Amino acid sequence: MSEVRTPFSKLQRNKHLPFGDRQDRPYYSKSILSVSQFSRSDIAYIFGVAREMHQMVARVGCFDLLRGKVLANLFYEPSTRTASSFVAAMERLGGSVVAINEVRYSSVSKGESLRDTVRTLECYADVIVLRHPEVGAAAIAADAARKPVINAGDGIGEHPTQALLDLYTIREELGTLDGLTVTLLGDLLHGRTVHSLAQLLAHYDNTTIRYVSPESLRMPAELVATLNDSGVTQTEHTDLGDVLGETDVLYVTRIQKERFADPGSYKKVQGSYTITPELLTGAKERMIVMHPLPRVGEIVEAVDEDPRAAYFRQMEYGMYVRMALLALVLGKA
Ligand code: NCD
Repeated sequence: MSEVRTPFSKLQRNKHLPFGDRQDRPYYSKSILSVSQFSRSDIAYIFGVAREMHQMVARVGCFDLLRGKVLANLFYEPSTRTASSFVAAMERLGGSVVAINEVRYSSVSKGESLRDTVRTLECYADVIVLRHPEVGAAAIAADAARKPVINAGDGIGEHPTQALLDLYTIREELGTLDGLTVTLLGDLLHGRTVHSLAQLLAHYDNTTIRYVSPESLRMPAELVATLNDSGVTQTEHTDLGDVLGETDVLYVTRIQKERFADPGSYKKVQGSYTITPELLTGAKERMIVMHPLPRVGEIVEAVDEDPRAAYFRQMEYGMYVRMALLALVLGKA
């Protein structure tokens, strides 16, 4: 059944209504712009589909659920994992990808607007994945487009698909999302992954979030205030030692060098935290270390041997979550 496209249905999609608000195929044709679109039951549903994707990949590798569908992967900022996992997700589902990873070789370098670029790509593709340096760019793209747009990171704003895969990783590794103490470490001011993840954690019972960062890179105060209103216990620290021992999930981020106005202020906070095997002797036996990656020295390679190091498994979970999201948005799950 093809969807009737009225101005109202376009408006609805672009107003970021809750993800699952339609009864027939609730996720079909929805843009994914912000984690605020997802309820706890949406997340449970997505995770169920992701688990099926995992089983199918283990069993048959690739299958034809999205055969004939095309994804446009439009990246205005560098990416290894997000870009390639969307490609792998689409291809494992039998679909294909138009990749624009180097916008400097596209008409963007001639001054084409984001709106026009998106309207071009939707002529060729069924869904657009967008990474852009400006906060709100994905919402602008979704407003211009008739096809769904998936936000793969908008500046220091949000990274909703990363947050979903982060949450999925925690669920798979620790078996629950309730009652956890999650420590977010590093550049909490500029890190879009932590902005999105903190909001998703607020859906679960008795969540405690410990923020550990240099003074100048604290979690945005508005976000802390919002989570406070939703009943999340939160505290801020500069010293990881204050909270490491009670931590169930240690989520490490890099200091985001490219977001600093001048190299001097980056230098002041560079290398603020380094996770080593010795440091982890003070952590719980049953805990996990996560990182969205890339790492630039925050976790030394020797930690990779520790079974608690979950960051490589986290990447693999990411492909299953992105397979689920593509299947749902394209109306096939
Ligand atoms: C993150 C990002 O791009 O926000 N990486 C990712 O998507 N896996 C984190 C980062 O760049 O530090």
